[in-house]
Amino acid sequence: MTGWPIEIFAVDDCSAQLAWRASPGPGLEVEVGDFSARLQASPKAMLALDRVPDGPVDVAACTGVRRYWEGGRALDPAWAGGPGSVLVEGLEPGTCYDVVAKADGRPRFLAGRLRTLRPPEGRLLSRFATVSDLHIGERRFGVMGRVRDAQAGAAAGPDGPVPYPVRALEAAIEEAAAWGAEVIVAKGDLTNLTTAAEVRDVALLFARCPVPVEALLGNHDNNSRVNVRAVLARHGTVVPWQPWARDLAGVRLVLASTAHGEERFHRGQLPQPVARQLARLAAEGGRPAWIGLHHPPERWPFPTVYPPGIPFGEGRAFAAELAKAGVASTCWVSCGHRHRNRCYRYGPVLVTEVSSTKDYPGVWAGYKVFEGGLLQVVRRTARPDVLSWTETTRRAMNGQWGRWSPGRLADRCLVHHWA
Ligand SMILES: [Fe+2]
Ligand SMILES: [Fe+2]
Repeated sequence: MTGWPIEIFAVDDCSAQLAWRASPGPGLEVEVGDFSARLQASPKAMLALDRVPDGPVDVAACTGVRRYWEGGRALDPAWAGGPGSVLVEGLEPGTCYDVVAKADGRPRFLAGRLRTLRPPEGRLLSRFATVSDLHIGERRFGVMGRVRDAQAGAAAGPDGPVPYPVRALEAAIEEAAAWGAEVIVAKGDLTNLTTAAEVRDVALLFARCPVPVEALLGNHDNNSRVNVRAVLARHGTVVPWQPWARDLAGVRLVLASTAHGEERFHRGQLPQPVARQLARLAAEGGRPAWIGLHHPPERWPFPTVYPPGIPFGEGRAFAAELAKAGVASTCWVSCGHRHRNRCYRYGPVLVTEVSSTKDYPGVWAGYKVFEGGLLQVVRRTARPDVLSWTETTRRAMNGQWGRWSPGRLADRCLVHHWA
């Protein structure tokens, strides 16, 4: 059995996350170095189940689910295994590993190969995490809302169904906090339509987070007359009007909302005084800075990607302000908004875009702060009901979403050395 489409979704200096769309057979085992695990996949077609599994799935009990098809053929007609993921830990930094798999009645085979990241110099000082584009309140995904959450009725909470954006955010926060994040930054598009109920719901979710939350607003949080900041503040999440900073060991988080005005604008705004304030905050921390925005800067004079980001002129002026403040090589700018993972140089500045919690691939990002630099690792939220939902959204836009959104491994997992 070769060609099992396992994906090396995430690597850092000591672990890797493997993910797959469908398990190729019962008794699946994976070996990476000294790590070995027998895996249980969650069913692909959770839409056909009458409940959301809350742990490993008894596949034998899932005979009614649809099997996973690719290229017009079932991967294994006798097996209903669906998407899954496994976290491989205890790996050596900067080391190449074979991913070896086997299943019942099938010989061991090479399923993939991964290389762990080489961490920056010095001690590990702190960790933080981000979530982006939560869109609490969204009911459907894809063009014309064709991808629907048939699980909402099954995952009923005390007050009714738990919608997929809520499940995705809860699981992402839980996993990021368990990973060791000291702070979680929510990088905008907290809500879908900015209704009062949506803002209240996201505020309550943040209030339950086991670690402090810093939240900034996106264009979807700017669509009604609801006083978003007041509702969030009532539940303990303060979103300043002006750029602000929070210091962690080894890094200063510098944050700003890039959506303004009474009407919803997809594009962002970063006027020069705000850019100057961001650069000043970054420079005054006495340590490297990580700058979180909702909108990424446009890379070209005319927008080439939808939805539009910060206009080219404003983005370039922002990069120039960072350079003028002497922090261009000791900062990292990270954004959301486009629900995709990308990494690029913007003039002298490193920029990453990180995808949404609630649609494919469904992620949160972790940052390890070292004395000599910063490591980003983007992991898929692994809770089975969330993974099954985000896997379902892969097929949006006639399957193009599954190709567009995840980016390359190097877009998601990388190290930036402070100069
Ligand atoms: Fe968004
Ligand atoms: Fe957005």
